[in-house]
Amino acid sequence: MASTLARSSLLALFLIATSMVCFAANNFNKDFDITWGDGRGKLLNNGDLLTLSLDKISGSGFQSKNEYLFAKIDMQLKLVPGNSAGTVASYYLSSQGPTHDEIDYEFLGNLSGDPYIIHTNVYTQGKGEREQQFYPWFDPTADFHTYSILWNPKCIIFSVDGIPIREFKNMESMGVPFPKKQRMRLYNSLWDAEDWATRGGLVKTDWTKAPFTACYRNFNVNGCIWTDSGASTTCGPSYLHSSNSKWFTQEMDLSSKERMKWVKRKYMIYNYCTDTKRFPLGFPPECKAIQIS
Ligand SMILES: *[C@@H]1O[C@H](CO)[C@@H](O)[C@H](O)[C@H]1NC(C)=O
Repeated sequence: MASTLARSSLLALFLIATSMVCFAANNFNKDFDITWGDGRGKLLNNGDLLTLSLDKISGSGFQSKNEYLFAKIDMQLKLVPGNSAGTVASYYLSSQGPTHDEIDYEFLGNLSGDPYIIHTNVYTQGKGEREQQFYPWFDPTADFHTYSILWNPKCIIFSVDGIPIREFKNMESMGVPFPKKQRMRLYNSLWDAEDWATRGGLVKTDWTKAPFTACYRNFNVNGCIWTDSGASTTCGPSYLHSSNSKWFTQEMDLSSKERMKWVKRKYMIYNYCTDTKRFPLGFPPECKAIQIS
């Protein structure tokens, strides 16, 4: 009796799990190209799952076929398990050229059982130096978690499982450039950075544990796709008036602000806006607004 029950609930779980896979909103084949790594990047399950691996010879990476000028992007990642010290999984939007814009997540590996670091940065007009780091409030290697970037004309919001961890507001009125003219592509890679990634480079990569593998699934994008003819995107007036385009004007509401405060209070481990050693002559102008909010 008990075992029949257990079996039928297992079956139910299995059905839920498979229907979730089948309902994956996007297919990696359609949206991405594996661009480097000589076979270390792999598409599995008909393109629903992508894995990147890293060994002593090379890492690997993939990039979106489309470029975007504003987008809301979600992707589920399951990071390198076990001893991942020295490895870095990067997930970022970037434009091209010397004055490029960039919106970055980097996941810095660690020894087994020690916490990963979720590292974030924002570059505008070629200038970054805006790092904020967090410990995840879960084990990012045990399961998939959703890492999102909302980038619209008003703000950039980084969220993890729907909880905002960082906001970079449009502060052009205070003289801070905001990414709004250069189209960006989405990049993901797994690579080795043993010189700095784990405890500032003290812990090196254990190559006897290679290959290291990270998994990606359920990519979902709502965005303004740059068109080949140039100088325009798919976000014309009819799109911007449709209900699909809510993300384009979305901002932090009260409850998101509360949740972000919780993350900052409990899990933030580095904030450039409080690093007095690094900015002895005063913080960058956007820090004022960050402190106030
Ligand atoms: C690794 O673990 C150590 C010890 O808990 C911690 O200080 C460090 O922030 C962790 N993360 C990285 C990426 O070094």
